[in-house]
Amino acid sequence: MAKIDLRALVAQMTLEEKADQLVQLASIFYVKDKAEITGPINHFGLDDESIARVGTMLGGVGAEKAIEIQKAHMEGDRNHIPMVFMRDIIHGCYTVFPIPLAMGCSFDPQLMEDCSYMAAKEGSVSGSHVTFTPMVDYVRDARWGRVMETCGEDAKLNGIMGAAQVRGFQGDNIADHDRLATCVKHFAAYGGAESGRDYNTVEISERTLRQFYFPAYKACIDAGTKMLMPSFNTLNGIPSVANKWLMNRVLRDEWGFDGLVISDYNAIGELIRHGIIGDLKDGAQLAFESGCHIDMMSPAYHKHLAELVNEGVIEESKLDAYVLKFLEFKDELGLFDDPYHGADPVKQQEICLCEEHRALARKAAEDSSVLLKNEGVLPFSKDVKKIALIGPFADNHAIKGAWAGSGEDKDCVTVREGIANLLPNAEITVVTGCGMLLTDTDKSGFDEAVEAAKAADAVILCLGEPQNYSGESCSRADLRLTGVQEELARAVCAANANTAMLLFNGRPLVLSEISKFTPAILEMWMPGCEGGNAAANLLFGEVNPSGKLSMSFPKAVGQCPISYIYYNTGRPKGKADDIFEMYGSDYIDCGVMPLYFFGEGLSYTNFVYESMVLDKKEIDENGELTVSVTLRNAGERDGKEVVQLYLRDLVSSTARPMQELVAFEKVFIPAGESVTVEFKITEPQLRYYNFDCEFVSEKGDFQLMVGYANHFALKDTFKLI
Ligand code: NOJ
Repeated sequence: MAKIDLRALVAQMTLEEKADQLVQLASIFYVKDKAEITGPINHFGLDDESIARVGTMLGGVGAEKAIEIQKAHMEGDRNHIPMVFMRDIIHGCYTVFPIPLAMGCSFDPQLMEDCSYMAAKEGSVSGSHVTFTPMVDYVRDARWGRVMETCGEDAKLNGIMGAAQVRGFQGDNIADHDRLATCVKHFAAYGGAESGRDYNTVEISERTLRQFYFPAYKACIDAGTKMLMPSFNTLNGIPSVANKWLMNRVLRDEWGFDGLVISDYNAIGELIRHGIIGDLKDGAQLAFESGCHIDMMSPAYHKHLAELVNEGVIEESKLDAYVLKFLEFKDELGLFDDPYHGADPVKQQEICLCEEHRALARKAAEDSSVLLKNEGVLPFSKDVKKIALIGPFADNHAIKGAWAGSGEDKDCVTVREGIANLLPNAEITVVTGCGMLLTDTDKSGFDEAVEAAKAADAVILCLGEPQNYSGESCSRADLRLTGVQEELARAVCAANANTAMLLFNGRPLVLSEISKFTPAILEMWMPGCEGGNAAANLLFGEVNPSGKLSMSFPKAVGQCPISYIYYNTGRPKGKADDIFEMYGSDYIDCGVMPLYFFGEGLSYTNFVYESMVLDKKEIDENGELTVSVTLRNAGERDGKEVVQLYLRDLVSSTARPMQELVAFEKVFIPAGESVTVEFKITEPQLRYYNFDCEFVSEKGDFQLMVGYANHFALKDTFKLI
């Protein structure tokens, strides 16, 4: 705790100092020569004095620079208040682990927590104090490029993984040198963007918001996240940063969130473009009244907060309270006593990308890859002599994915390198075959690819979409492989049947054609710096694939948004038993089901679900039902399986989905052995938001199912009485 009296510190600050304390500037203001700060950021109208007293900087600059900036800042500020350095450490800082969408496929919260702790150590040692993670926006539309930042389409999985991130980054004490504070985002419903177009309008009923969109944010708040970021989008007409219902009523009054709120990048400035304010001054007032403490990269608070106080529009005591809150946060980070936190250039060199961190990143890449199809091709024998590696990802370092912090492509192990590491004596031929940009139409490399495939014992097609085709502002309207990769795949598969495909991508793709002719498909996602080694281990059976999809793969882009959480409708296709049968809810050209479901994923062994035993058939509101699921590894390899338990409320006063994930557990089962997993069901798990938005359960029948959507091995029912 600071030895200084923070209240007294605030009391003697000028209005301008208080306003600037609530401003966040990008690192360009600190690392560049002042004369270079021109262009769009010039409109901030910041003089040296203001820059020297803002409260926080955005961006990672490394330990050495962070120490230098902090030192100069504290000397330049009359009050000597340390800055908080915040940045986006999403799936690793220097050691990059798989994108969150992939991490979701691991269904392993402990792995997520371990990876987050590793990222916290690297972030802290390189000078950061806060990370803008977890991102837990509920998503059902693969067109949206930011699906790569979430753990997928299920609110429960997202919430569990988000909470694991909060624990992994924050630990018990954010002042510890190996910890960072987290900022959950983007509250709320950013992932509901119409047509999957980034930043687009979101119109969602309050009931659906509460049922599906809110729970993962709430889970992160319950896990203790120190900060929260409102989303860019309008939610039912109001941009989140100015949405008093969302920010004050739901977030604070209902959920009791007492942490700091920071706007997204220039979100207050963008209120003008949304057309809900006429000028920036109104924006500053609206955001302030909506409980936004810190203004990220807009001139609003810097230019107008003091003026609004002088005019009596904002009470000075409220401004004081915001500033005090921020200073208390700085104190909790320990910055008044220790302004450099864990920043240490020597240690940074030692731990970032060290072998221990790489090993964890490798495990994460292995455990989050998903085997989508396998017609007896995989695993390849390690005795193969001649391997053809074909496609734009065959020897490509660009597999870290978007939002990779300070990670660099050069530190990523390519597939070729990974296979050469595992099989140093194999003869590996690499043929790129074609490019993968949207504009790449050149097929002149196909012949060489086909020749290489014919001459090889095993062929590995390495395809996908460029890493900068997913992430912020990277929506796509077509979800097939880019360029002429699909045609390359067709030619190569026709040339050699012993072909497996590795996919590198940041979102679910439409694989309807490819899946028809490719014997084996292993989804690698953007696997991070150990991707090539992980791919080799999976392809050659050193590791048994255990990932399950965190997001459904549509058959066609026209199915989007799509999710395993769907409703029956009054006319489910093929289910009606009367004259309405011909009028089923369907697409006449591709059906309604995705190609691959959430929860789906193969293994090199065979798990047989033997029984699901319910210890009782009825529970009341105080009761507890134990569900025991026994499964056997009936194959010849050890393996991990994600046991997934789904629930359906059979009759309720508003329509409920056909299935919702209620619990899961990942278990290791040696070959030939059985395991029994126990799940507990109690009344609160049966609650939902009814027509009046009350969170209630209703008495009646419920169905439990084990397996994954529409492929359930076992089912049973019980009653809530
Ligand atoms: C904009 C993004 O929406 C947000 O996720 C990120 O944290 C900020 N920029 C800061 O980089």
